[in-house]
Amino acid sequence: MHTLAELVRALRAGGSVFAEDEAALLSEAAAGDAGRLATLLKQRLSGQPLESLLGWAEFAGLRILIDPGVFVPRRRTEFLAELAIAACRPGSTVLDLCCGSGAISAAILHARPQVRLYASDLMPASLRCAARNIGGRAKLFQGDLFAALPQALRGHIDVLAVNAPYVPSDAIALMPPEARLHEPHSALDGGPDGLNFHRRVARDAAGWLRPRARIVIETSAEQAPTSAAIFETAGFRTRVASDDSRGATVILASREDQATS
Ligand SMILES: C[S@@+](CC[C@H](N)C(=O)[O-])C[C@H]1O[C@@H](n2cnc3c(N)ncnc32)[C@H](O)[C@@H]1O
Repeated sequence: MHTLAELVRALRAGGSVFAEDEAALLSEAAAGDAGRLATLLKQRLSGQPLESLLGWAEFAGLRILIDPGVFVPRRRTEFLAELAIAACRPGSTVLDLCCGSGAISAAILHARPQVRLYASDLMPASLRCAARNIGGRAKLFQGDLFAALPQALRGHIDVLAVNAPYVPSDAIALMPPEARLHEPHSALDGGPDGLNFHRRVARDAAGWLRPRARIVIETSAEQAPTSAAIFETAGFRTRVASDDSRGATVILASREDQATS
C-alpha cells in the first residue's frame, strides 16, 4: 500500500513536475484499490500519459473522456476552441476536422449549444471516444479529411475548426515520452515540415465553406508564417493569433473579400 507521500516521492523521482497533483489524481482513480494504485503508478512511471490512465482530461473547464490510443487534448488548444466559439452565430454549421476525442467540439457545444456540429477523424478509436463525449449532440464521420463528409455539407460550413497533426516528422523523436511512445504517430506526424495537412485543408476547404465562413487552425509560432502563406496562396485572407501564456498559435482564415477579425 502506497501512502500519498510515498506516491509523491516515486512520481517526483520519476521526473514528474506536478507530483503532488498527480499523486492525488492517481489515488482518486484507484478508489482505495491498492493493487490498482500500484499498477497505475507503474504505468505512469513508464511514461503513459496521466490523462489516459485517469480516463479523462480537463479541457475548457470540461472533463473530456479519453480512451487508450486517443490523442490527449492539450490546454493550448483551448485557445483555438475560444476563437471558434467567437466565430459561431446561432444556427452556425461547424465542422471539427480531425476531432480526436471531440474536445474542441465539446467546448463549442458547451458555449454555443444551438450550433449544428459535425466532427470527423480518420481513426475509429477517435470516433468511438468522440461519441462518448459528444455523441447525440454532433454528427460524427470517419475518414480521410473532407472525404469523410456527406456531399450535402458542401458549401454549408460556417466555422471550420482544425487541429490536425502538425509535428514535423523528424521532431517526433524529440517529443516527451508521453507523446512519442504512447500517442499514435498518425495523430502527430504532419510530414517533413509538419504542414502537409495544412496544405490539404487549404487546397480543399473552399468548396465546403459558406462565403462568409471562418477557418481556425492550430499551428506553432515557428510554423505560423508558412502556414499562413499556404492559406494565402489558396485564396484566403489570414491573421495569426497567439496566446503566449498557453503557448498557442492559431491561423484564422477567411475568403479574400472577408475580414478575419
Ligand atoms: C493533433 S490530434 C488533434 C485531435 C483533436 N482535434 C484535439 O485537438 O484534441 C490530430 C487528429 O487528427 C487525426 N487524423 C490524422 N490523420 C487524419 C486524416 N487523414 N483525416 C482525418 N483525421 C486525421 C488523428 O487521428 C488525431 O485524432
